[in-house]
Amino acid sequence: MVNSRRRLCVLISGNGSNLQAMIDSIEAGQLDAEIVAVIANRPGAYGLTRAQEANIEAVCLDHKAYPTREQYDNELLKLIDSYQPDGVVLAGFMRILTPEFVQHYLGKLLNIHPSLLPKYKGLHTHQRAIDNGDKEHGVSVHFVTPELDGGPVIIQSRVPVFEDDNADDLASRVQEQERRIYPLVLKWFTAGRLSMKENKAVLDDKILPPQGYANE
Ligand code: GAR
Repeated sequence: MVNSRRRLCVLISGNGSNLQAMIDSIEAGQLDAEIVAVIANRPGAYGLTRAQEANIEAVCLDHKAYPTREQYDNELLKLIDSYQPDGVVLAGFMRILTPEFVQHYLGKLLNIHPSLLPKYKGLHTHQRAIDNGDKEHGVSVHFVTPELDGGPVIIQSRVPVFEDDNADDLASRVQEQERRIYPLVLKWFTAGRLSMKENKAVLDDKILPPQGYANE
């Protein structure tokens, strides 16, 4: 029988808890996909160990070995393409990507960002939510477009912010939600139910609202 499972390439920089959620979801039979490679830009990324333990090809392409962002992204693109993925999944990949890279994978490139976009693009999102006195915070999964953290949102999950929270408390509350929503989005994507059309996220032929699929 021909293996028709969608091929995913997962890019990480660190711990890889989102990657682990994907691996678990595949092993539990909830996500019908194959992770064909895990690529990290940092040699010590623990997610590489997680991949090896799951018998998934784990590769480090160290960004420090490349003098420019363009050269690194070009090499990364060639490496990813060698696995012929159907989707490229950013899971804590802490790098800004060149427009050429993003354009190459447009519609196949997904990211998870720890804020309720369009709030708090960029870094230190948990601390910024606390500093602003926000009562709620959360996480977004979105298609990647050349605008940093600006592509159409697919789903968001919200968490409360309590008065005595520090950034770590809030990060772990958010990450619990991350582990639920990213595999769900990948399930839609790999089943062909989710796409990006005219800079909008479309699920089951319906354009999703700016905050994505309601997941209350
Ligand atoms: C996650 O919280 C993810 O939302 C965040 O990095 C963490 C990676 O955790 N991503 C970003 O901040 C992207 N700008 P993980 O390595 O355990 O999956």
